[in-house]
Amino acid sequence: MLEEMYKVFAEIYGSDSNAESFFSPGRVNLIGEHTDHEGGYVFSCAIGFGIYALAQKNSLGKLRLYSMNFDGSYDSPFEIPYEAITEKLAIPRSWVNYPLGVVSTLRKHGCQFTSGVDILYNGNLPDGAGLSSSAALEVLTVRILSDLLGFGIDGVKAALYSQEAENNFVGVRCGIMDQFAVSMGRKNSAILLNCSTLEYSYAPLELGTYRIVITNSNVPHSLAGSEYNLRRQQCEAALSDIRKTVSISCLCDLSVSELDEVSYTVKDPVNLRRAFHAVSENARALRASQSLKGGDIQTFGKLMNASHVSLRDNYEVTVPELDILASLAWNFEGVVGSRMTGGGFGGCTVSIIDGERVSAFKEYAGSEYERLTGRKASFYETGISDGAGRFALNV
Ligand code: GLA
Repeated sequence: MLEEMYKVFAEIYGSDSNAESFFSPGRVNLIGEHTDHEGGYVFSCAIGFGIYALAQKNSLGKLRLYSMNFDGSYDSPFEIPYEAITEKLAIPRSWVNYPLGVVSTLRKHGCQFTSGVDILYNGNLPDGAGLSSSAALEVLTVRILSDLLGFGIDGVKAALYSQEAENNFVGVRCGIMDQFAVSMGRKNSAILLNCSTLEYSYAPLELGTYRIVITNSNVPHSLAGSEYNLRRQQCEAALSDIRKTVSISCLCDLSVSELDEVSYTVKDPVNLRRAFHAVSENARALRASQSLKGGDIQTFGKLMNASHVSLRDNYEVTVPELDILASLAWNFEGVVGSRMTGGGFGGCTVSIIDGERVSAFKEYAGSEYERLTGRKASFYETGISDGAGRFALNV
């Protein structure tokens, strides 16, 4: 992959002599879905798929960007002086808005762009699969700029700046989970993150003979498609109703029974269901991480299944294809648990499966899914990787 990238870098930028290599993983969330924006826990990890980049300083004083995934029909990079980066651009090469958002955010935080930079990106994350290609692109760009221009940004800050870029420049009100997972991931570990305090701990993913299998419904998810922001508004409305009676700072300050006690204060039943999802999912995420630490994979799996049901019925962010994939998994011997992962409205499920049953599962779920939906599913078995950073050729 990198060899080809060095060739393309030389073609696009005319020189590759000083280019440095970087990598950012994508992420898979094991449990704790749609809890991050409500101040709850998430339990996620960085995966082996992601985005690679080559980058070097240039003397033009400009940012130049090229993606091998999206820019195949262009033979020159997108280029822009830093001062001209003020708002999201409505252009065909719309992917550049993620790196531009990062630059704009870093400038707001006082970073001095003393040199131009050339970046070439090339990823192997399936696009629109909900495995955080946007967060990977953002955090990767922070890492590159920080390293080449000497900003000294640490992993947690890199995640926060990336989230700020996505919220304020790209315009998606995402929580911190994705950026945190891709920035702070650790090989073979999941991260339990308290999204309200940003306290985090690593839990070794000791699954024994079980494997994590990601199944792509190949229904492209669309977060910016306003449903995500709508869910956030509904949670905010529930929070504001509840706050008239109890003093809390976020929904996940409540336990399930505490929410039950104040449920009469929430005016709209839809908003109450959204709140119930966030609060119950928060409890599931905590319990699941404890089960895993105690080696109780069966309980972990049951909590994953319950998470899917709540995302389907209370939060309403699944689509029929994801529900079909989850129930195919639930009914297959050897599957410990399965749920949709990520923002929803398409994308992937994550399942924990007995290693010896993985091939049979793929065959069964693949053919049944096609029969029931007319679509082909894709399956990924991935390792759990470190967070974004420099990438050595010999790794
Ligand atoms: C998307 C967002 C995250 C999180 C998930 C749902 O991935 O970017 O912040 O809210 O959806 O858990």
